Amino acid sequence: MAEEMSYSAAIEEAGQVMCRFPLKHVDGVPLMNLIVDRWDEIAAFTPDPSDMLIATYPKAGTTWTQEIVDLIIHEGDAEACRRAPTFVRMPFMEIVSPRPIPSGLDLLNTMDPPRVIKTHLPFKLVPKGFWENKCKVIYVARNAKDNLVSYYHFDRMNKTQPEPGPWEGYIQKFIRGELAWGSWYDHVKGFWVERERRNILYLFYEDMKENPRREVVRIMEYMGRALPDDVIDRIVELTSFQVMKENPMTNYTTLPKSVLDQSVSRFMRKGEVGNWASHFSPSQSREFDEDYEHQMGGAGIPFRTQL
Ligand code: A3P
Repeated sequence: MAEEMSYSAAIEEAGQVMCRFPLKHVDGVPLMNLIVDRWDEIAAFTPDPSDMLIATYPKAGTTWTQEIVDLIIHEGDAEACRRAPTFVRMPFMEIVSPRPIPSGLDLLNTMDPPRVIKTHLPFKLVPKGFWENKCKVIYVARNAKDNLVSYYHFDRMNKTQPEPGPWEGYIQKFIRGELAWGSWYDHVKGFWVERERRNILYLFYEDMKENPRREVVRIMEYMGRALPDDVIDRIVELTSFQVMKENPMTNYTTLPKSVLDQSVSRFMRKGEVGNWASHFSPSQSREFDEDYEHQMGGAGIPFRTQL
């Protein structure tokens, strides 16, 4: 809890210098300028073999998966998992914020392995140490249209991300891979082609919605854990959208409005499959699908846009 206090205080102190940071590029991938300025340090990060990575394109279900993993580690102990907000318990490896807010690497350096680490980096930018040390890696993918809608609302309320601009233009930026962390298409394909060789557990948000218990068990087994049925049931309940929406340790309400303005859009917004249908016009949907075929045809990744 002390850590959380100092983290919040640091954010308050940095409040004046928080802004919508411009993007710069690493190997063609757009990232917040502060990340790019410290790229060498990030690329050189060497995890412990016992560390685990949760990798996603932004808004694919990262926080949900982090909470499931933390509850598996703590055997369903809700109180243990309320020790601090998600971003303190499981640091966001590459994030760099204005001082005195600790960077992801600063936080990681205060923790002993085994650590659970979050990243949005595409496969080609993940520090090589994760593969050399054969760390466990969970990747979560979400269908492009829902992922795009979720990112759009997030960029409206996240005051550190570039302005989303109008909806129509945002669709084009997504298609062209111009949003922070780059192309969704390259991201989901990059981890997909490497999943077997690297022993990556590749999950889908839609599968988690369809049958959360089945996916919790898959994660548990991948982590090499075995928990009794009643504990698994509790984890499913504690990681439901409604429970996580009310939990201040998972709903990002511990961050001030200068960072995430939840009066614009809630972090725990809808949590649905198919919400894209109330955002895309028929012609936008048609054009998006045509381009999708072009970018994804032959990739063979079984995404679902409806359940
Ligand atoms: P929406 O904006 O569609 O509601 P991330 O954690 O990667 O930033 O992803 C955030 C998205 O996951 C948001 O999607 C959020 O509501 C959704 N989400 C978070 N926890 C969830 C849960 N327990 N069940 C379903 N969706 C969840």
